[in-house]
Amino acid sequence: MAGIVILSAMTIRADDWAVATRLASAAPKERVHSTTAETTWAVYLDYNASAPLDPRAAEAMVSVLTNVGNATSAHGFGRRQAALVDRSREQVAALVGSRPSNVVFTASATEANNLAICGAVQAAGQDQFRILVSAVEHASVFRTADWLRARGVVRVDVIPVTRGGVVDLGAVERLLGPDVLLVSVMAANGETGVVNPIAEVAELAHGAGSLFHCDATQFAGRMPLSMDDVGVDLVSVSAHKLGGPMGVGALIGTRRSLARLAPVIHGGGHERGLRSGSLNVPGIVGFGEAAALAVEVRAEESIRLARLRDFLTARLIAAVPGVVQIGDVERRLPNTACLRFRNADAEAVIVNLEPVAASTGSACSAGSIEPSHVLLAMGLSRSAAFECVRFSLGRSTVDTDIDFAVSRAVQAVRYVRKMTAEAV
Ligand SMILES: Cc1ncc(COP(=O)(O)O)c(C=O)c1O
Repeated sequence: MAGIVILSAMTIRADDWAVATRLASAAPKERVHSTTAETTWAVYLDYNASAPLDPRAAEAMVSVLTNVGNATSAHGFGRRQAALVDRSREQVAALVGSRPSNVVFTASATEANNLAICGAVQAAGQDQFRILVSAVEHASVFRTADWLRARGVVRVDVIPVTRGGVVDLGAVERLLGPDVLLVSVMAANGETGVVNPIAEVAELAHGAGSLFHCDATQFAGRMPLSMDDVGVDLVSVSAHKLGGPMGVGALIGTRRSLARLAPVIHGGGHERGLRSGSLNVPGIVGFGEAAALAVEVRAEESIRLARLRDFLTARLIAAVPGVVQIGDVERRLPNTACLRFRNADAEAVIVNLEPVAASTGSACSAGSIEPSHVLLAMGLSRSAAFECVRFSLGRSTVDTDIDFAVSRAVQAVRYVRKMTAEAV
């Protein structure tokens, strides 16, 4: 490897226009090799945080970046932009088996979650004043719910999860009632990859007359999802988790459920009046292209990634004592492994893993590091939660990345344990 820099899609700096353009015309799995004195092999195993922009999506975006016109304008420039948005609407709708007219483009899944929850609460009558959210939701769901609760707008009940991280269906049933406006349960958790029984939750929610919102940010594009089959009313998705650009998401709803929302962002009445603001055409085009590609490669990628993920896990368990798999391994996204390395602080492991990128679920809050609320909800102690590392793989991950990641992780955990032992 000496003298070779391997730059894969995820190591390209956004401001390096020449490289970005070359990348845009490259095949998805092609890597860019160049020779310098420095030896670097960066391996990106943090796809659940953000997936690299897929070259096909990048190319589609570049081709419209200098287009003139607002997609709402009646002239030819505007109509050309609107046609591009329409095509992307079809591609994003296909991602979740919905209809193009049911897609509301937003700037992120965070915004889509806010629109689903705040929008439903704003538009609701007085007899439905309770919402249910699972204990492992993303901050954009649970903090939004909590913000509404703190203002006395709704009552919020938290649905517990099993030790495997799966939402407790018995608890959903017990908590439901005619006063429940909305149930929000994610399709798959980003930290553990654990997949929830969303069709069952939908059935329970509908039985009680509640709306069912599902944050499918980590699930869509990785697993098949049909809104009709599952019976979900509102789904949130994000472009940058599936190879599209950052800054674009969508809330996709059935016609009836969208009619039960009030806008959160007011203005010119774009997106069925639910999300005002001129549309980000290049971003939306990139989202559409990434969604179409995800649908195309999803089945074979699932098999390939599950094999690589299991290979990574098995080799780490064999090489490092005290490795524990976190989350129900029978119900996980194919690309995700959450591993606890006993007696090794995960933040320290991450730093020593460089140039391999993985992550922890802990969050910076008011100057202190807090353990992941997801892991705590699954019954892990604070100290155990601080020892968990998430590896999330994606389209550019190959066998040699796993070899390198394993060797770095073995060294990193040994080093952190040694340093910790010496410090006490
Ligand atoms: C489940 C889930 N929902 C929502 C989000 C937020 O997505 P965005 O970055 O598009 O706001 C994330 C990001 O990690 C996520 O994992």
